[in-house]
Amino acid sequence: MTDRENLIKEAFEAQKRAYTPYSHFQVGAALLCGDGEIFGGCNIENASYGACNCAERTAIFRAVYEEKRDFKAIAIVGKPEDAADFSYCAPCGICRQVMAEFCDPETFEIILPRSTEDYKVYKLKDLLPLSFTAESMEE
Ligand code: THU
Repeated sequence: MTDRENLIKEAFEAQKRAYTPYSHFQVGAALLCGDGEIFGGCNIENASYGACNCAERTAIFRAVYEEKRDFKAIAIVGKPEDAADFSYCAPCGICRQVMAEFCDPETFEIILPRSTEDYKVYKLKDLLPLSFTAESMEE
């Protein structure tokens, strides 16, 4: 199994843990760190809808809490809970911005699978061009 396929498998596992009593749209993410460790994340919803957290941010925040700062790739899968098949689930704008805080836009891979064999791969720079980062605030 390739690194990508393994990461995709972990994203599907994470998706099963989604807490989605409101949207019933279940998302899983798996984040690959530079040292090879993988952090899973799922979306976690809230009766106060603005407090919902996406799967990608759950994975990234878990990793950052564990003092990881070097990230190589993230796989993201999502579908309505009663759907049989997955379609490509692109990350929302807030999650792209959180990725931009920690990930190299030139090399960080965003993997969007429908299955372990069928997936698209994007670079962060292509999904969030002209991003606002710490450098944007330098004189
Ligand atoms: N969601 C994610 O987890 N990741 C995304 O990038 C898009 C949206 C979640 C948030 C909410 O729980 C549900 O999908 C419907 O928007």
